Amino acid sequence: MWNDLKQHFQAVQDRRFETLFDEARAGSFSVSCGDMVFDYSKTNIDADGRALLVALLDAADVAAKRDAMFRGDRINVTEDRAVLHTALRNLDGDGVVVSGADVMPEVLGTLDRMERFAEDVRSGAYTGAGGKITDVVNIGIGGSDLGPAMAVRALSPFHDGPRCHFVSNVDPADIAEVLRGCDPTTTIVIVASKTFTTIETMTNARTAKAWMGQSVENPAQQFAALSTAGDKTSAFGIPDAHVFGFEDWVGGRYSMWGPIGLSLMIAIGSNAFRAFLRGGQAMDRHFCSAKWEENMPAMLALVGVWHNQICGYTTRAVLPYDNRLARLPAYLQQLEMESNGKRVSIDGADLPVDSGPVVWGEPGTNGQHAFYQLIHQGTRIVPCEFMVAARGHEDDLHHQHQLLVANCLAQSEALMKGRSLDEAMKIAGRLDFEGGEQERQARHRVFPGNRPSTTLAYPQLDPFTLGQIIALYEHRVFVEGAILGINSYDQWGVELGKELATALQPIVEGRESADGKDGSTAGLVQFLRTRGL
Ligand code: F6P
Repeated sequence: MWNDLKQHFQAVQDRRFETLFDEARAGSFSVSCGDMVFDYSKTNIDADGRALLVALLDAADVAAKRDAMFRGDRINVTEDRAVLHTALRNLDGDGVVVSGADVMPEVLGTLDRMERFAEDVRSGAYTGAGGKITDVVNIGIGGSDLGPAMAVRALSPFHDGPRCHFVSNVDPADIAEVLRGCDPTTTIVIVASKTFTTIETMTNARTAKAWMGQSVENPAQQFAALSTAGDKTSAFGIPDAHVFGFEDWVGGRYSMWGPIGLSLMIAIGSNAFRAFLRGGQAMDRHFCSAKWEENMPAMLALVGVWHNQICGYTTRAVLPYDNRLARLPAYLQQLEMESNGKRVSIDGADLPVDSGPVVWGEPGTNGQHAFYQLIHQGTRIVPCEFMVAARGHEDDLHHQHQLLVANCLAQSEALMKGRSLDEAMKIAGRLDFEGGEQERQARHRVFPGNRPSTTLAYPQLDPFTLGQIIALYEHRVFVEGAILGINSYDQWGVELGKELATALQPIVEGRESADGKDGSTAGLVQFLRTRGL
């Protein structure tokens, strides 16, 4: 399969894919889900290439693997866990059985408790020592931060609850700057940690508790916890009524649909949060029912595989022309790179092809004035994933939104068409350059073009649409992982650094010597310690 695809790429790599366009191409190389469209016609994928890519899905048994995930099979084999974040948005679906028991009553019961708590905080029925809650501080990192932080920003037009702040970094600058702007008597601190052991989160949680303890008699009363570790949340002193638990079958980077989404729910209210869940559920249903060529997550994944594993483009840029999605690239970095940045397949064998690519990005139009130079004229090809809404939320500034959209469409057009030396020569001629200088100037103005991009277009960024987008990317990760035969749901690659940081702490604090450390590490410790560490 891989060889067939690579041979196909070799045969077509020098053609200009612009020439593939006929009247049908834009429609037949696009996929719809509800009112959202994913256009991948501005790539070098043709009907033969797509057929070969779709064959990968069947060769890797992706449909059976998908059904096993939704069914609750223990597909996270290295941790012996089911993978069921989809159950968190299964609002009116069938039961989901794990180890012989339907998990849906518990999921819906927890959602109900979260809603009552969130609405109490929003209405003022729940108060801090100083009255109605004005500020929510979510302390968490990785999946316990990126999802809600990204979504609270994305859905700011729907934000009518208390202010929300996110503290993730163990760098004291992070928590100090957030707490400086909060009144401890009207702030609620949410400690979001699946394991309730993550050193950054627990350190920040203790700092926040001490800060609140200076003004509030019983600070733990103004704390809530989102965790699978009920014993540890009670040891921290957080009342059980403020603890929202979930099971080990919810992975950290897939967890914003459940308790980890509490700060989002407090920000936008329970109805809007349910609309977000409905968007995810709609994408789940589409993923499970649409045939592959019409299946948005499958086609998004296959375009990714084509560009990364077949064409050898090692990064991809996520470029939302929707400023409120500013944190989406960071969110996707964890989702995609922690899931598919692996080097062995499920059985432990080396992968025969590259694993997931480097994911990065910034909202347009800002990125245009930063790194698009490289995207258009650099020596590397960076497949670009544009995202754009038909409407913004600023009706009185619709003309600015139209300018934004024009920029988005112009970028994908420019990437595809480029500018030839002939055209550049004419431009240089109009600038009065002549002879050798005209050609030299022209060469700087050539755009090779033939650079692939995709565009995801949707009516407006609202809770339902955001739910669709996030579930779309989750399933894309699943499909890519299934094709590669890897376990997308563990993350052993983050462990070694954590272990070494723990071992280094007494050395950094000067309680132990750096003997036995490599010369670089020991030298850096000494440099920092002699300068105030
Ligand atoms: O270090 C990686 C990681 O385990 C992520 O997978 C997770 O989202 C993050 O740390 C936070 O973990 P926790 O929610 O247990 O604090």
